[in-house]
Amino acid sequence: MNPKFYFFFAFMTVLAATAIGAVPVTDANGEIIFNGSYYVFPIDAEGGGVNLSGRGGKPCPLEIVQNSSNSELGIPIKFSYWKSNVGFVPESESLNIEMDIVATTCGQSTYWSVDESDSERKMWFLSAGPKPEMFHFQIQKTGDFFSYKFVVCPSWIESRDGCVDVGIFVDENGVRRLALDTNLPFSFLLMKPIVAKDSSKTMSM
Ligand SMILES: *[C@@H]1O[C@H](CO)[C@@H](O)[C@H](O)[C@H]1NC(C)=O
Ligand SMILES: *[C@@H]1O[C@H](CO)[C@@H](O)[C@H](O)[C@H]1NC(C)=O
Ligand SMILES: *[C@@H]1O[C@H](CO)[C@@H](O)[C@H](O)[C@H]1NC(C)=O
Repeated sequence: MNPKFYFFFAFMTVLAATAIGAVPVTDANGEIIFNGSYYVFPIDAEGGGVNLSGRGGKPCPLEIVQNSSNSELGIPIKFSYWKSNVGFVPESESLNIEMDIVATTCGQSTYWSVDESDSERKMWFLSAGPKPEMFHFQIQKTGDFFSYKFVVCPSWIESRDGCVDVGIFVDENGVRRLALDTNLPFSFLLMKPIVAKDSSKTMSM
């Protein structure tokens, strides 16, 4: 697309969206996210991108983890099923998040959801599985820059605005797991993959 036209288009989209109150999520370059997959690049936090991993030595179910090395981009994620009728990914609106990978190990798709509460650790972990019936994830802005955090806003959580932050919980094996309401916040930039890649990959673990 002609860059001038592109900016005009993006500008008009923002105007149209502002009229109905939706604000687009942008990538690390400030470009509006319409579609496609993006790496989660942490800021103000240790570690790298997100990945899938079993828990307690079991391969399944898969949970969402963060690579402990800040040079690892992990697996990109994509967004779907927001309600407002806008072409871009909206801020602060419930949507689905999915890993852009085919996980063969557990024979299931890789939509994010919130696990059963882990009574032993009193934590709610993020896991991967079939498309959830209710999608409660939101992407909320954390600062002036293009930084965001994931929040979960389910009806069963009672807090001031009905949402809790997704943070990092370092488990007994040193694995950095995404979980609700931890004391390690997880803010990030969304980075577009630089190299064109196959739309579906297979993970072998
Ligand atoms: C978004 O991408 C998916 C998969 O690549 C494709 O099926 C879909 O049509 C795209 N949607 C838009 C609005 O471009
Ligand atoms: C981090 O990335 C490296 C290289 O891809 C991989 O070997 C390692 O298993 C990853 N760790 C996690 C927790 O994903
Ligand atoms: C994800 O984790 C698996 C298992 O630890 C590892 O083999 C793989 O390299 C990781 N993938 C990425 C993209 O970090």
